[in-house]
Amino acid sequence: MDIPNRPDVEDWETDFDHFHVDYSADPYSIWKDMREGGCPVAHTDRFHGVYLPTRHEDISAIAHDTDHFSSKSVIVNDLPVADIGSFRSPPITSDPPEHQDHRRAILPAFAPRAIEKWIPITRQICNELLDEFSDSGSCDASADYAQHIPVKVIARMIGIPEEDGDLFRKWVQELLEIGPNDLNVAQAATREVFDYFGEYVKARRNDPRDDIVTYFLEAEVDGKPMDDEQIMGGLFLLLLAGIDTTWSSIGSSFWHLGQHSEDRRRLADGSASFDAAVEEFLRFYSPVTMARVITEEVEISGTTLCPGQRVLLPFAAANRDVEFMEDAETFEIDREVNRHSAFGLGIHRCLGSNLARMEIKVALEEWFRRIPEFELADPNVVTWSGGQVRGPRRIPLKW
Ligand code: HEM
Repeated sequence: MDIPNRPDVEDWETDFDHFHVDYSADPYSIWKDMREGGCPVAHTDRFHGVYLPTRHEDISAIAHDTDHFSSKSVIVNDLPVADIGSFRSPPITSDPPEHQDHRRAILPAFAPRAIEKWIPITRQICNELLDEFSDSGSCDASADYAQHIPVKVIARMIGIPEEDGDLFRKWVQELLEIGPNDLNVAQAATREVFDYFGEYVKARRNDPRDDIVTYFLEAEVDGKPMDDEQIMGGLFLLLLAGIDTTWSSIGSSFWHLGQHSEDRRRLADGSASFDAAVEEFLRFYSPVTMARVITEEVEISGTTLCPGQRVLLPFAAANRDVEFMEDAETFEIDREVNRHSAFGLGIHRCLGSNLARMEIKVALEEWFRRIPEFELADPNVVTWSGGQVRGPRRIPLKW
């Protein structure tokens, strides 16, 4: 099956399309075929030319090589690289040497100690959601639970009214799910987000509070206070980077547990730890694929990568590479050594990983306290988001 307005894929090694529904439904077997079928780096002429490495070694080499690969275009869509030049969301779109300063400015807001204070708030958010359906015997774990948690947590961290969470979810969907295939929608959503944050930051200049906006207002980049545009860029990034990623990870965890009663039982009876389980969910169902622009010709696993084209970094493919990790294709809820790359590799490694881990763990713990037994009601209605953040968007559970 194909998504509207796109030619179907005849050959995944020479014509892949990461928005194709078959890719969203099961990218793992596509990557495995490429990796084991003698094509570790696939290519497509779509999207102005994109490469797709599938071995851990290659993905890691590219993520660490900022001399040949730039982050100025991390999303692959129909726009040519030159046209996205004005879209900046530092530090994710910054290259060295600026990247370090951009990253340093917001790093302390996501340090483990800074995250601690959001734990009780996240527990409360989860319980308020569970109050709505825990007695009913069924729910959609994506639409009724997973998707609301990161939105509500980020809304609290930014200090915006919680009822505006619906707007955030709409923007994330328009920017990341619809936007890559409909640039008018993406541009309209970007304008709406910047208008919203513009008003908000202006109002907050004289209203200091214990939250991220005040933190940004007091932070410095390049030795100078952040201006409104930089602060809006920072908030925009939290929205883009922190919501559907975490929603996808929480969702995949429930999708897995709804079908693997032994793993569910082990979490319920305490014979497996939530900490180890969260790492394995992150590894096995890594939701994020990032992109780089090739700035100089370079060879990767025998393929010459042409400057000006882009390369996708499917971290989920790296995490299932058996050359890199023993039994990488098996889910082990108590895996002891788990050096996964769900949060990326190299200088752009996820800034929000402490926050994300906390949210996934709390979401599972609070759920299990109230609903320790549950199962997937109907696997056929589960749908997956396409593009560069992959997660289940419908997960009907019953108990
Ligand atoms: C399970 C949830 C998450 C996953 C799997 C994830 C994954 C990633 C990955 C793979 C990167 C690397 C990007 C690259 O190499 O270009 C990244 C970067 C980043 N993430 Fe996350 N992320 C998650 C949650 C979050 C959250 C909750 C936040 C903050 C609210 C966040 C903020 C960021 C930022 C700011 C960067 C850019 C860092 C830099 O460029 O130096 N992420 N994330």
